[in-house]
Amino acid sequence: MPALETPLHFLTGAELDAAALASLLDRAAALKAAPLSSRVLDGRAVALLFQKPSTRTRTSFETGVFELGGHPMVLRGEELQITRGESVRDTALVLSRHVAAIGLRTGSEEELEELAAHATVPVVNMLSPLHHPCQAIADLETLREAYGELEGRVLAYVGDGNNVARSLAVLGGLAGMEVRVAAPAGYQLEDGWGAVLTDDPAEAVAGADAVYTDVWVSMSDDESSAAARRAALAPYRIDDALLDRAAPGAFALHCLPAHPGEEITEAVLYGDRQRIWDQAENRRHAQKALLELLVSAAAERG
Ligand code: CP
Ligand code: NVA
Repeated sequence: MPALETPLHFLTGAELDAAALASLLDRAAALKAAPLSSRVLDGRAVALLFQKPSTRTRTSFETGVFELGGHPMVLRGEELQITRGESVRDTALVLSRHVAAIGLRTGSEEELEELAAHATVPVVNMLSPLHHPCQAIADLETLREAYGELEGRVLAYVGDGNNVARSLAVLGGLAGMEVRVAAPAGYQLEDGWGAVLTDDPAEAVAGADAVYTDVWVSMSDDESSAAARRAALAPYRIDDALLDRAAPGAFALHCLPAHPGEEITEAVLYGDRQRIWDQAENRRHAQKALLELLVSAAAERG
C-alpha cells in the first residue's frame, strides 16, 4: 500500500479503509505462522504508556515489539513528568525524538487526542474510554481463523455498550460484518457506529456466527455505579442457552478480563464453545501487523 494512504495514527480504527484492514489481517495471520519473520523494529524502541492497568495489552505489545526486533519501553504514567505538570504536548514531542511509535492506554480521550496531535511518530490507542481498536483487530483475526472471509458474517455483542462494543462496530463494519449490540436502556451504544441496536439478547444472537461480551464495569466507569450496572445487565449474561440461539458452530468471544458468573458463565468461558483464549493470543499477532504497517509507512514518509 502506498505510504501516503496509510494513516499516521490508529486511534479509533476508522483511520483504516477496508483494503488496509484486510491486508493487516492477512499480515497478522502470516506473523502468527512465522513470529520472527519481520524485523521492522530492528534497532528501534516503542514507548508503551499505561495510565491504567493492563494484563493482555501490556504483555502482547511488549512481546510483539520484541519479536519485531525492537525494544518495548513500558512507561507508567506516574513515572513521567506529566504528574508534575509537564504537558502532553511536550511529552509527545520528546518521545517522538526517541521512539518509532507510541502506544497509550488512558482514561482520557482528550489526552489521547493531544498526544496524537503533537507526536510526529504513530500513536496507537491501547484503550481509551470510548475505543479499544487493538482489541477489535485481534477479534477480527480470531473470526477469520474460524470463518475465512468476514463479509456478511454476523457478530452479536451482548452486554454493556462500551469501548469494546464501539470498536467492534467500527472495525467489524469495515470488514463487511453485521454487528448487532444488545444492551438495556441506559447502557446501549449510541446510533451512528453502524451497529444494529436492540435491547433483546435473543434477537441479537439469532443466527449469529459469534456472541461477544465484555465486563459490565469498565475502568472508566464510576465504581459507585457498579451495583446498578450489574442489576441492569444481569439478563445479558452469555450462557449455553443463549449460544444455542446462535448459528450452529457459533462460539463465544470475550476481550477479558472476565468475571465468571457475571457477564459469562464459567461453563462457556472454559468450555469448547469459545475462542476467548485464542483472542488473547491474537492480540500480539494483530498488533504486530499494525505496528509494521504504521512504522513502515512513517519511515517511507520520512
Ligand atoms: N483485553 C484487554 O485489553 O485486556 P487488558 O486490560 O488486560 O490489557
Ligand atoms: N471495557 C473494558 C475493557 C477492558 C479490556 C474496560 O474499558 O475496562
